[in-house]
Amino acid sequence: MSIAELAKTIQEIAIPGKGILAADESNGTIAKRFKQIDVESTEENRRAYREILITAPKLSKFISGMILYEETLGQKTKDGVPFPEYLAKHGIVPGIKVDEGKIPLECSPEEEVTQGLDGLPERLIQYKDKGARFAKWRAVYTVSDIYPSQILIKTNAIQLARYAAICQNQGIVPIVEPEVLIDGDHSLDKCAQVTEKVQHAVFYALHQYGVKLEYIILKPSMVIAGADYQLKPPAEVVARETIKLMKRTVPAAVPSINFLSGGLSNEDATAYLNAMHKLEKCLPWYVSFSYGRALQSDCLKAWAGKRENFKKAQKALLRRAKLNGLATKGKYSERLEK
Ligand code: 13P
Repeated sequence: MSIAELAKTIQEIAIPGKGILAADESNGTIAKRFKQIDVESTEENRRAYREILITAPKLSKFISGMILYEETLGQKTKDGVPFPEYLAKHGIVPGIKVDEGKIPLECSPEEEVTQGLDGLPERLIQYKDKGARFAKWRAVYTVSDIYPSQILIKTNAIQLARYAAICQNQGIVPIVEPEVLIDGDHSLDKCAQVTEKVQHAVFYALHQYGVKLEYIILKPSMVIAGADYQLKPPAEVVARETIKLMKRTVPAAVPSINFLSGGLSNEDATAYLNAMHKLEKCLPWYVSFSYGRALQSDCLKAWAGKRENFKKAQKALLRRAKLNGLATKGKYSERLEK
């Protein structure tokens, strides 16, 4: 393990005012996003869309790292520059999603477990060769009266810890992503209870597997009510309960917490992050974003699969990136949405 290499990557990602753009949708997921704008998911369309994100002018003012999908890592700009090389040259650290999606958990088949550990060390060597310096592995937890089960919490924790240890051995910073899903009609309190159990299990496993907490990035979900709950808690409550829970479960050795947006509206994702920074000036970790949908949805709509919308789409991305950059300093306000 090269500590210096890991430390440098963290230093270049965890920068006040900046966050991570998650553009690592698998081919199945991007096909769903393209369907909403009536665009076919061909290899060239995926490349053309990712080129919009990657080459957005001055994106590095607000984005310090970008997570790519394996196919994208090997693609190029229309001028023939490999995407990871373009990002690195423009001050954005390239990263790679390394999990291989989810399958039903054998002993609790209504729940899903993430796969992709087999052959991971070999794959990481190839990804690193292409320029990736950090990785992402996502584990998901459904909330209901009976879920998540203890066995899922334990299995996901061990897998996240093994993945993180393997990454660090290869000089790759692991993003550890335990996502408590927004689906359902559960309350914010229920989400908090589940998230607390999940994160305790994850950090216990990270300790057992010898993962150096100084060189990971945690990518959790926020403490929110389920999407079908009767009442939407205000941003201040989400911020207060989220930070309370992070303090209970995330050691101060962790350098950066980059929240996922997980189906929140663009505005809510930004407002909730902003409220966390309003709440407290001096948090134990850097607190930022690693958003997929909340950064990309306006951009996708503006593009609509048409080459002539290239610039318009980049503008839409830059706008959301800027607003989220402001939120990492507590300087966003709803007024800026207009
Ligand atoms: P969302 O912000 O759309 O949840 O995507 C982030 C991500 O990387 C999910 O794994």
